[in-house]
Amino acid sequence: MLPPEIIEFDDASIDNIADALKQRGYIILPKALSADLLDDLQCRGKNLPKEQWHRAGVGRHKNYQQNEEIRADKICWISADNSTESAFFLAMETLRLGLNRRLYLGLFDFECHFSSYAKGAYYRKHLDALKGQSNRVLSLILYLNTQWQATDGGALLLYPQQGGEPIQKIMPELGTLVLFLSETFPHEVLESQRQRLSLTGWFRINNSKEDRIDPPN
Ligand code: OGA
Ligand code: MN
Repeated sequence: MLPPEIIEFDDASIDNIADALKQRGYIILPKALSADLLDDLQCRGKNLPKEQWHRAGVGRHKNYQQNEEIRADKICWISADNSTESAFFLAMETLRLGLNRRLYLGLFDFECHFSSYAKGAYYRKHLDALKGQSNRVLSLILYLNTQWQATDGGALLLYPQQGGEPIQKIMPELGTLVLFLSETFPHEVLESQRQRLSLTGWFRINNSKEDRIDPPN
């Protein structure tokens, strides 16, 4: 277990992330977090009780649906009640504040779930946020799989805003962290040939809709 004083993101690494987001809109970082935190998160994800996993859905509110044609993973939302998940939230809080300071993104909070893809699961090409319809600004994915091989499939393909060819193919290897602007980059998860564990999160802005604060704080 990690002592709480360990800082996962120092100023130099947040500078690097902010520069990349400003210039390209995404960044891929191998071994972004300490080995201890990665091990704890992997262990936590692997040992979550079966009943805590849900079929993932697509869309929000009235448009929410479960559709295996689009995605076939299972998810489990994380919370600060668990010490490992809380350590991860703490690291993300450092990142959120650091990015706000550098890029004036106005990131308000962070939500995150474990994702588990069984053999044969995938997630078809999609955007995490539609322009003006979501408070998700920055998507984050952290992979938690040891010794991922090319033959295991399950790569993340990142596409440009316009055009058909992927700009990045990312293996879901332990510690690889991907950040991208949620409204800008379509992406997909190719069919996985083995169990594939990750954390997916979104830094959100605080939209005000019809005089209601969304999300509520
Ligand atoms: C998602 C997603 C990609 C991945 O959960 O929205 O696109 O590589 N995940 O797990
Ligand atoms: Mn996505």
